[in-house]
Amino acid sequence: MHRSHALLLATIAAGALIGACSAGTDSTSLIGSKYVPTGNGDTTTGSSSGGSSSGSSSGGSSSGSSSSGSSSGGGLPTQAPPDAGPGSTTSQAHQYFDSTVYPLLNVCQACHSTGTDGAPEMMDSPADKTYSELDALGLIVTNSQILSQGSHDTGKAPALTSAQQSAITQWLALEAQERVGTAAPVNVMDAIGACASKSDWDAIGWTNLRTQKRTDENANKCTACDNSLCASCHSGGDQGFFMAEGSAFDDGDTSFVQTFQAQGPDMLTYINKFFGLNGTSPVASNAIANKAAAVALGPAYSHPMFVIPPSVQTGITTFVNDALTAYTNHTCTAPTDGGAPPSDDAGP
Ligand code: HEC
Ligand code: HEC
Repeated sequence: MHRSHALLLATIAAGALIGACSAGTDSTSLIGSKYVPTGNGDTTTGSSSGGSSSGSSSGGSSSGSSSSGSSSGGGLPTQAPPDAGPGSTTSQAHQYFDSTVYPLLNVCQACHSTGTDGAPEMMDSPADKTYSELDALGLIVTNSQILSQGSHDTGKAPALTSAQQSAITQWLALEAQERVGTAAPVNVMDAIGACASKSDWDAIGWTNLRTQKRTDENANKCTACDNSLCASCHSGGDQGFFMAEGSAFDDGDTSFVQTFQAQGPDMLTYINKFFGLNGTSPVASNAIANKAAAVALGPAYSHPMFVIPPSVQTGITTFVNDALTAYTNHTCTAPTDGGAPPSDDAGP
């Protein structure tokens, strides 16, 4: 029932998005495949701005364990990988990534190590850095968005070649094998979902998070880009982010349930907006803050810009850290067995 509900909403919202965006007459309006390419000459390619990195993830939230910001070469702040076992540099899956997958991603790095067009920074060199970034973003999971993303950025980003597709599939299968035992990555993400606190979630104040027009945008040409709720486009879970708060589609716990408790095919689709992994330890993914940093570099009429109010960032950080703490302390009210594995990895 939730499933069909979500699909329906997704359909409605997608229609709304297209409607909203096609209201613009300016042919430069929409970029990104989801924004309906308008096939003009595209003079904006150079817009990557030297900016790069821009450390984004302000709101800390790197779980209690400090260490974070190792980001020597710039890029997404990430924690040092585990010393041994899944995720460590000596793991077979990790080594397969370094030797076989990473070299195939250089076409992607053109944007994903620089932030070109508002691309999330997640493929910085060297290979180990990219690995940590992808893990922290919750992308090292079976059915990863890396595999499903397809061509994007108005076609400037190519779909995966079959060589890339099969190497990545092979790699993720190795990861799943390795991470099984203490817990498969999917299970860790599922378990952390059970640690999410609804009252922390409600304290975030999602309706205070709104889009903000760029100075070079005309608000009449992109109706959801000026002081709009994220729910204007994400109320049905569209584009991997489930945010119905403040909309007619919100029944009080819709977004929370869909993000952290969904079963079936939607399970784990949205949770990486909040949590990622470092091997088999859950970490903050900072996806919302990362997106804010990315869109700040995006050109006019790309994904609406937004600035996270401090109260909202604090609320998200508290929400995430409380869940990570509950996971570590085995105090989650989990439907499954949620919580860190009893003995094994224990962590530092
Ligand atoms: C021309 C620039 C460009 C290239 C090249 C590119 N991307 Fe992207 N990518 C983007 C932009 C911009 C976004 C954010 C907007 C979107 O999703 O369309 C993005 C988003 C993504 C996302 C979603 C990440 C998230 O959490 O939001 C994934 C996954 C991704 N790209 C994978 C790839 C892969 C794999 C390649 C190489 C085959 C690649 N990209 C090449 C520009 C690019
Ligand atoms: C006009 C419609 C629209 C609005 C309004 C909007 N988004 Fe998006 N969002 C999209 C589309 C389309 C994508 C996928 C392409 C991209 O990333 O640019 C996306 C992608 C994202 C992603 C990345 C999901 C992923 O994994 O690839 C995040 C995070 C996100 N949006 C957050 C927000 C937040 C936070 C707000 C409110 C401040 C917001 N969005 C408002 C249309 C919108």
